[in-house]
Amino acid sequence: MPGGVQTEVRNYQMLINGEWVASKSNKMFPVYDPSTEEVIAQVPDASAADVSRAVAAAKAAFEDGPWGQSTHQERGRVLFRLADKIRQNLPMLAELECRNSGKPIVEAEYDITDAATCFEYYGGLATKITGQVNPVPDNALSLSLKEPVGVCGQIIPWNYPLVMAAWKLAPALAAGCTCILKPAEQTPLTMLEVAKWFDEIGLPKGVVNVITGFGETCGAPLVAHPDVNKIAFTGSAAVGKIIVKAAADTVKRVTLELGGKSPNIFFADADFEAAIDGALFGVFINQGEVCSAGSRVLVQKSIYKKFVEAMAAKAKTIKVGAPLDRDTKMGALVSKDQYDRVRSYQELGKKEAKLASGGGRVEKFAKGYYVEPTIFYDVDNSARIAREEIFGPVATVIPFEDEKDALKIANDSPYGLAAAVWTRDIFKAMRTVKALRCGIVWVNHMQPTYVEAPWGGYKQSGFGRELGPHGIEEYLETKQVHINLNEAPIGWY
Ligand code: NAI
Ligand code: MG
Repeated sequence: MPGGVQTEVRNYQMLINGEWVASKSNKMFPVYDPSTEEVIAQVPDASAADVSRAVAAAKAAFEDGPWGQSTHQERGRVLFRLADKIRQNLPMLAELECRNSGKPIVEAEYDITDAATCFEYYGGLATKITGQVNPVPDNALSLSLKEPVGVCGQIIPWNYPLVMAAWKLAPALAAGCTCILKPAEQTPLTMLEVAKWFDEIGLPKGVVNVITGFGETCGAPLVAHPDVNKIAFTGSAAVGKIIVKAAADTVKRVTLELGGKSPNIFFADADFEAAIDGALFGVFINQGEVCSAGSRVLVQKSIYKKFVEAMAAKAKTIKVGAPLDRDTKMGALVSKDQYDRVRSYQELGKKEAKLASGGGRVEKFAKGYYVEPTIFYDVDNSARIAREEIFGPVATVIPFEDEKDALKIANDSPYGLAAAVWTRDIFKAMRTVKALRCGIVWVNHMQPTYVEAPWGGYKQSGFGRELGPHGIEEYLETKQVHINLNEAPIGWY
């Protein structure tokens, strides 16, 4: 269909050791367009036997293949070529990401560009990995060498499918690791398309294996496999906890990004228009399916009433629409499961607090997992809708008295991924920044995310950092080397 949308159901294979293969069981599972509820693809249903095959390929590629001998420059160039391919194919990838995830096409275009930028950033960083000379008190040369962690299992969520894959693959490859990447079962398609270019860009076989499957049957055996040295995971706190326990048996390195319940704090002196915009953007971007969503909107009492009214009025104007429409601001939720989950929290919220806007499904669509941007107010911070991650377009507005009160509420959460604070008072802003127990703080903005700056959480939002120079550290081991310069016996005995 020229200029149209793909209509046939595509059958995919997965990539193991440079070959496109079915699962050993030959089973496949369907992948949906959540805006139409139609099946758009079938992908292999990988299980433990396929995981073993992929891990063996990644291990061989690390230990015996050309990747292990490659220079930092060569690895950097591979990443640059991958970024180029992604940029050249932006329309195709953005459309596929949009259809498979339900997110608005304009956001999908940002995402694909971001993924390319991430590969470029780590392509550049590949040649900046350096060690250190240690000033030991001896006639010796003491070195710290940086070496790749080895075989890495990477488990990806569905909210930013290709971006999350890039955040994990790019630093791993720059560091010289090899990977087994498991996309989320809901959204494997863009990664499978990108993997088609691996050979052409000069990535040796087995360096990146992409296996498609479900958490318990494909993710879990990857976490348990003794030849996997590290697991990088983004997803739910519940699965993060399972992974930490499972990884203990083989003492794997683990990094976790587990989402949150991030406070977006508005002091009375904030620019009011910018504040309303920031509150809405913070929690409704990507249909609220964002780990750092500003889902707890903390508002100072002196502006509280006006704020709730203005926020609700503007929320009602947000265009919920077909993901492929360029003026859509909120598309469909990713899956039936996620839709049911968000709907149940909308109903729970009606019992726990007051509803300012939204609260249900968008009824004008016959099909598709569309929900209204929803705002609850007079929410107590102890309510379930204020404590549990909803991962959908549901804001909980909580009033506060003063700075001390705001900080107490903000930090009273099991999570600690991100926060934002809005004020024109630099002293108040900086005191708040210092007092917040979380990994990311925005001042007078919410959600800007740059590959140059570290990303990750405190408390139950996980550990380890992605992006920036920190991101590559998580894929490097440190080797201490002591070179004795005395040509004489040690002289102890
Ligand atoms: P999930 O945590 O179950 O899935 C994320 C990834 O982990 C997927 O690739 C999945 O296949 C894999 N996985 C699941 N169980 C596993 C296991 N036992 N061992 C290894 N891998 C496993 O998330 P789900 O069920 O899709 O969404 C539930 C909730 O999780 C959402 O409502 C949201 O609150 C949260 N979530 C947070 C994300 C974040 O960015 N921090 C991303 C996705 C979900
Ligand atoms: Mg799950």
